Amino acid sequence: MSKPTVIIVGAGLSAFVLASKLYQQAEVTIITKKSIHKSNSIRAQGGIAAAIAKQDHWRWHLMDTLQAGNYHNQPQAAEILVKQGQHLVKELLKQGFPADCNAEGSPLLGKEGAHSHRRIVHAGGDQTGKYLLHYFQSALIDKINIIEEQSAVDCIVEERCCTGITTIDTNDHYHTYSADHIVLATGGAGGIYETNTNDRTVTGDGIAIAYRAGASLTDLEFIQFHPTMLVTSDTSNELVSEAVRGEGAVLVDQDGNRIMKGKHERLDLAPRDVVSRIIEQALHERNTIYLDISSVSDFRQKFPSISTACEKHNIEWQSGKIPVKPGAHFTMGGVETDLVGRTSITGLFAIGEVACTHVHGANRLASNSLLEGLVFATRLAEEILVPVSRKCSNVTKTIPLYTSVDMPSKDMIQDKMSRHVGINREGSSLKEMLNWLDGYTVLKDEQLSSYSLTKEQCEIQHMLLTAQLITKAAYERTESRGAHFRIDFPDASPEWKQKYIRWNFHRQGV
Ligand code: SIN
Repeated sequence: MSKPTVIIVGAGLSAFVLASKLYQQAEVTIITKKSIHKSNSIRAQGGIAAAIAKQDHWRWHLMDTLQAGNYHNQPQAAEILVKQGQHLVKELLKQGFPADCNAEGSPLLGKEGAHSHRRIVHAGGDQTGKYLLHYFQSALIDKINIIEEQSAVDCIVEERCCTGITTIDTNDHYHTYSADHIVLATGGAGGIYETNTNDRTVTGDGIAIAYRAGASLTDLEFIQFHPTMLVTSDTSNELVSEAVRGEGAVLVDQDGNRIMKGKHERLDLAPRDVVSRIIEQALHERNTIYLDISSVSDFRQKFPSISTACEKHNIEWQSGKIPVKPGAHFTMGGVETDLVGRTSITGLFAIGEVACTHVHGANRLASNSLLEGLVFATRLAEEILVPVSRKCSNVTKTIPLYTSVDMPSKDMIQDKMSRHVGINREGSSLKEMLNWLDGYTVLKDEQLSSYSLTKEQCEIQHMLLTAQLITKAAYERTESRGAHFRIDFPDASPEWKQKYIRWNFHRQGV
């Protein structure tokens, strides 16, 4: 019997974990927009959360995950994350993953916002993502096919079954690939915002592709803004890990006053949405906000990539103060999947940030994203290796005809999203954004390849559609919950409790 074929679109942690679990029994191809050294995972600083300390328990990790998520999480998904995650992280350490350890060889555990215990496993100080990717990638050299510099354009869907993927290369040539299993691992949508912590390649592609394939999307209104990006004089997007606050750094204004005092019981380690809103307000009032790191010992040793980033931008971290601002960081919503990565389209799967199992609720707990990649990629591998017969059903689509495709620039989309769909949202401003988007052609119901678009135009179409879906969801949710904050509806509403907004091109609804 021939091996099953699997195409994974994306090159972050979930893609490589999946490939590592499948390559012996399946023919695996990774297709990535740029290179295998570009992803959000590789940029992850803080670490990977797991209740591995003697005094910790997965139940406490679960409680922290649900609390940070404002109880919008799917509890079963969250329990799987922390329980299976604990097991997989222990296994990783046993197999020799080079985590930072003390003299006795036990992993040093960091602390981050909204965690009740020290449970952040880290490597290379603040380079955990890089170390993890290297660990999985080096074991796979020559064992899988890797196609770089090709962007995914659309899924090939026949009778509600996904049978392949269309891509475009740097010369604007289209390619088609077919496989038994198509897996989206393309990351979230941080790049549709002007200020964001994401790799430049992360522009909501998987969300738009899945929508055009007819898959169900959910929770898109929940975009997490990380409180502390480095303030620089150019457009670079350097993160200052929350782990720095975990080591004792505090947020202060230009006069040295602590801005989190009296705002939340967990002070500087309050949930990210709370801290980001307070910093945003202070910046709005023309304050400059700093991370006061004077009480953090061995800063360079603990945070080598952050100190190097400061030096690159002429910021003297030795002075004890690092200027910071919030930026779009993580997409809690995405392509809706079950607990093994299946989307609503047969043959199409999603893992990592592009997927939404509702595991993170309305606000992801720090360092749960690498864990999500590890856990749900492992679960999908088990699913793919069980042979199943496919049931496909006929579906009729009405294809609207456009004569021309009118599009804004990437910068315009990022600027508008930051202004209208950012940390603080308001009904009339969201409506303005929707009206602005309506002025352009947003291709939703058909293959982009039928329009002979360039690579850049395909990316803009992905961004436009993702922006429209996020804005619609943010407009519809007339309450505030976790990362979704509406100035005109500042409280959580019991009517919206545990309600998920879903979109696909057949229906929309809660
Ligand atoms: C950080 O290190 O602060 C970011 C890691 C995460 O988003 O969980």
